[in-house]
Amino acid sequence: MTAYEQLKRRLETKEALVGIIGLGYVGLPLAHALHQGGLRILGFDIDPAKIDALKKGVNYLKHLGESLTRDLSGSKRFEATADMGRLGECDAIIVCVPTPLGKHQEPDISYIVSTAHAIGKTLRPGQLIALESTTYPGTTRQDMIPAMLAAASGPAKSYKSGEDFFVVFSPEREDPGRKSHNTRSTPKLLGGCDPRATELGAMLYRYGVETVVPVSSAEVAESAKLLENIFRAVNIALVNELKVVLTAMGIDVWEVIRAASTKPFGFMPFYPGPGLGGHCIPIDPFYLTWKAKEVGKFTRFIELAGQVNTHMPHYVVERTMLALNDHGKAIKGSRILVLGLAYKPDIDDTRESPSFELIMLLEDLGAEVDYSDPLVPKTPRVRRHDLQMASVDITPANLARYDAVVISTNHSAFDYRTIAEHARLVVDTRDALRQFESLAAGRLVRA
Ligand SMILES: NC(=O)c1ccc[n+]([C@@H]2O[C@H](COP(=O)([O-])OP(=O)(O)OC[C@H]3O[C@@H](n4cnc5c(N)ncnc54)[C@H](O)[C@@H]3O)[C@@H](O)[C@H]2O)c1
Repeated sequence: MTAYEQLKRRLETKEALVGIIGLGYVGLPLAHALHQGGLRILGFDIDPAKIDALKKGVNYLKHLGESLTRDLSGSKRFEATADMGRLGECDAIIVCVPTPLGKHQEPDISYIVSTAHAIGKTLRPGQLIALESTTYPGTTRQDMIPAMLAAASGPAKSYKSGEDFFVVFSPEREDPGRKSHNTRSTPKLLGGCDPRATELGAMLYRYGVETVVPVSSAEVAESAKLLENIFRAVNIALVNELKVVLTAMGIDVWEVIRAASTKPFGFMPFYPGPGLGGHCIPIDPFYLTWKAKEVGKFTRFIELAGQVNTHMPHYVVERTMLALNDHGKAIKGSRILVLGLAYKPDIDDTRESPSFELIMLLEDLGAEVDYSDPLVPKTPRVRRHDLQMASVDITPANLARYDAVVISTNHSAFDYRTIAEHARLVVDTRDALRQFESLAAGRLVRA
């Protein structure tokens, strides 16, 4: 039996053991979906705290709900380990490790490469490897496969992709906090490095995802994922730019977007905010910017969107400064409370959150800044900040102590009536106070 036939059979009979490397926002819900589909899962992570939590059934990603970790840890078909030496046991290996940017906005694929080395060390015939991490086109074929083979030893060094082992790219479309879709119900793109890899990859993912959408190559799947995120980055930049222009004209941009949204075709609403956040939209577009230079091309839309979006925290600070001025206060020495540290409502993910930038900019101008976020009791260390602050409770007495409150993230847990009634001045970057604007008359500024 060939390696292809053997793997196909193990997938058909559900005997296949699936290794998932990186049990974070992407890997953990995927492990759960494939496990629910009846497969055996071996989860890998270098973070011992995550392995320990999974062994004990403790949930470390609140938005996924308590039962998800319990389902896994209570099952005989799930195990979590930090021992990468066990990758050889797996018939399929799915890679969900971070793909951040380096200091100069260049792609950092070091997590993919080190994972590929670990896979290469125990590579055996009949393994399927799927990369999920968002990255530039060509990573799977040109970076990942060579890195695997470079780390392989003995006969494995001359294994052939498409004959001995099979490699696909299948991007994640996770949107933490979204209730309308989950890992299972969101259609999944999949492009293999050869047709048999695509076929085997689709067989694997159909156990966890209702609709698998095969495309002709790994490169198409890699590029499609970037298009999805670039589309968001560019459209968010567009409404952020409109916000600045319309606000200067005394026109309410949120009402304008609501009005345009009544068109039943050819329009899709995007909303302005204090800047881009999260692990994807502020980062992924620059993977293409970097790669484009290799073929002598430039990504002007992406760069422009990046400039507009990066300027947003500065715009919010300027509006705060002017609003304080109108109330006879200088920003220097003012006490300011930033509401929401997570980058979007009702999740606890703070990666790349513009709230950090706001806090830093306000402090640089001499303000005394606190934050409130019921989902983030303490500031975690993130890529560029280690603020070491603790969340302040929102009470009438606490609100009255601050010269201004800046709404950065519109968590539904915030009591907006209390904020409207008791804050001395509110700078609202999310149109969160709309319902209570009459209660905050003369004290509300949109930014
Ligand atoms: N978070 C999202 O909403 C989202 C959505 C779509 C795509 N993505 C992409 O998916 C990828 C993963 O993102 P995430 O949000 O799940 O990241 P994450 O930080 O939540 O999880 C990554 C996990 O990988 C582990 N890890 C790192 N290096 C490792 C190694 N060498 N071996 C084993 N484990 C290792 C980390 O400890 C962490 O637990 C990224 O490329 C991201 O761009 C994320």
